Amino acid sequence: MRPCVPKRRKISSLLVTAGPTREKIDPIRFISNYSTGMFGYEIAREARRRGLRVTLISGPTCLEPPRGVKCVHVESAFDMQKAVRHEIENCGCLVMAAAVSDWRLSAQSKTKIKRGGGRMRLELVENPDILKEVGEDDDGKILVGFALETEGLRENAAKKLKEKNLDLIIAGELTTGRGPFGENRIDVTIIDRSGRMISMRHKTKRELAKIVLDKALNSKI
Ligand code: CTP
Repeated sequence: MRPCVPKRRKISSLLVTAGPTREKIDPIRFISNYSTGMFGYEIAREARRRGLRVTLISGPTCLEPPRGVKCVHVESAFDMQKAVRHEIENCGCLVMAAAVSDWRLSAQSKTKIKRGGGRMRLELVENPDILKEVGEDDDGKILVGFALETEGLRENAAKKLKEKNLDLIIAGELTTGRGPFGENRIDVTIIDRSGRMISMRHKTKRELAKIVLDKALNSKI
């Protein structure tokens, strides 16, 4: 685990991931999640506005990449892992805002699966944890993760921060009525690696992108 000393190195380049991943079932179908990519795109936009060199690795979204940002489009968790491994060397900070699918199909069908028989079983296997892998290779990069929880928000997020060796984690709870997806205002708790927590309510993702970058780049939570 890294020591709890704020890093004050000047960061000039940022790698951000955004959006969902898709895990193919057959040539026509996939499993995925509700992520729209908005938070990651706002982070990329704000970082570029501050003059950083920004690379955005994006799963499938409907969003236009911000101007001046290098965008790498990926589909599956494996694609995202490959792209992160490739791009990480050139970056001082990784913000892992993507909602990476935790599972993929144990086998993809090359042809369309036909219906019949009334029942269908899919076997899933775990995908690699991309952020954890980067955290294991501790070379002084600032690492920011996200956590979306339906229960035990603070405990689960703090556990992830520790296990993935992160500097910051942005935790959101999936509460009924106001989901975290798309343009909705959200409530988040930000935790740093010394355990300090700040909770914010009803913020737009644009507002939060500024706050997250202030904290990540200046380590001043
Ligand atoms: N993450 C990742 N690779 C994965 C899954 C998640 O890099 N295969 C990253 C996410 O981008 C996020 C952080 O890890 O920044 C936490 O993701 P989350 O889905 O909340 O947690 P998991 O580690 O997948 O744990 P669980 O789903 O069991 O809560």
